[in-house]
Amino acid sequence: MDKPAIRMIDLFAGCGGMTAGFVREGFSPVLAVEWNLFAAATYAANFGPDHVIAGDIARVGEALIPEADVIIGGPPCQGFSNLGSRDIEDPRNKLWKEYVRFITHARPKIFIIENVDRFMKSSEFLLLQEEADHGLLKEYELTFDVLNAADYGVAQRRKRTIVIGSRIGKIPLPRQTHAKDPGLDPDLKAWRTTAHRIKGLPEKPNTTELPDSYVELLGHLVPGSFKGLDIHIRRNPTEMSLRRYDCIPPGGGRFNLPDELLSPCWRKKKTGTTDVMGRMRWDTPSVTIRTEFFKPEKGQYLHPQWDADDPSNRVNRPITHLEAALLQDFDYDFQWCGTKIEIARQIGNAVPVGLAQAIAKHIRPYLAGH
Ligand SMILES: C[S@@+](CC[C@H](N)C(=O)[O-])C[C@H]1O[C@@H](n2cnc3c(N)ncnc32)[C@H](O)[C@@H]1O
Repeated sequence: MDKPAIRMIDLFAGCGGMTAGFVREGFSPVLAVEWNLFAAATYAANFGPDHVIAGDIARVGEALIPEADVIIGGPPCQGFSNLGSRDIEDPRNKLWKEYVRFITHARPKIFIIENVDRFMKSSEFLLLQEEADHGLLKEYELTFDVLNAADYGVAQRRKRTIVIGSRIGKIPLPRQTHAKDPGLDPDLKAWRTTAHRIKGLPEKPNTTELPDSYVELLGHLVPGSFKGLDIHIRRNPTEMSLRRYDCIPPGGGRFNLPDELLSPCWRKKKTGTTDVMGRMRWDTPSVTIRTEFFKPEKGQYLHPQWDADDPSNRVNRPITHLEAALLQDFDYDFQWCGTKIEIARQIGNAVPVGLAQAIAKHIRPYLAGH
């Protein structure tokens, strides 16, 4: 028998990484709010345009907020300085005020917030706790911690704060299912690796551009929708970059470069930034996929294939958009809208689909009896 649909709202939805994980577990999105048109179009291409509001959350009137069982998504943090205040009326806390407005109106049984790992040290987090202690969210009990996506079957190390707010009894965070070293624990599997997600894709992508196609979504014509090999896009590195990439083994980085290939600033900076010009490894999860994964100078983003003895068996390029999306655990056929830069931003900003799925699977039984 089919499980009953669970109605959910995704706020600050981006391209829908978090929704994708919840949909895998049978949740039904009834509203998504995202003000970046390209991200909203990607969301609409995958989950349908009818429930998407492509606009500022602050302008969504209460009449448009449906009842829902679950609200997912967290307001982006404005900063981590001590200047933030715990007063929800403070204009700097505008996005939190909006989030709380949606909760008080939709009255979800559970809400899930995802945010950067430093979130637990932010003034926004204190504000949330205060609202849950004796403010507008006082019906809700909170559990929170920093989770690593790799511990939930994603082939990527990505640490994120996850908060579960519940008014149907306190809900613990999901137990990890994977570990770097599972030992003899029968409940744990070994971390998934980059090989698991991206081995076997063409090593030499045959395009440097997205296809020239447009789609009408949400009343606008946007580039898209693209999927699979459409976003397996090569870059045009300089001769110097290629020589550098060729020297870097898996797990290595700029410290593997001979002196003549060092840039002047690297020559001066002898320590730190070890990920710069890094090459991934086949046998571990990747590093965190950020919005500029296509720039090897920004992190460990070189393709993992490298052979010490056979230079013809080295893939000297950064990962492609498709590889980054797969490491974020999106399906191969997920559809993307926007320019190359916009799609990279959507990929890097997303919650890994597998992490969202693990949370969805975990909370589902708690909702069953309510
Ligand atoms: C970290 S991303 C969300 C990623 C998403 N949860 C996913 O899994 O794909 C945060 C999103 O909030 C959106 N955003 C920021 N301020 C907003 C506002 N005032 N109204 C609507 N969306 C907003 C940004 O455009 C961005 O796409």
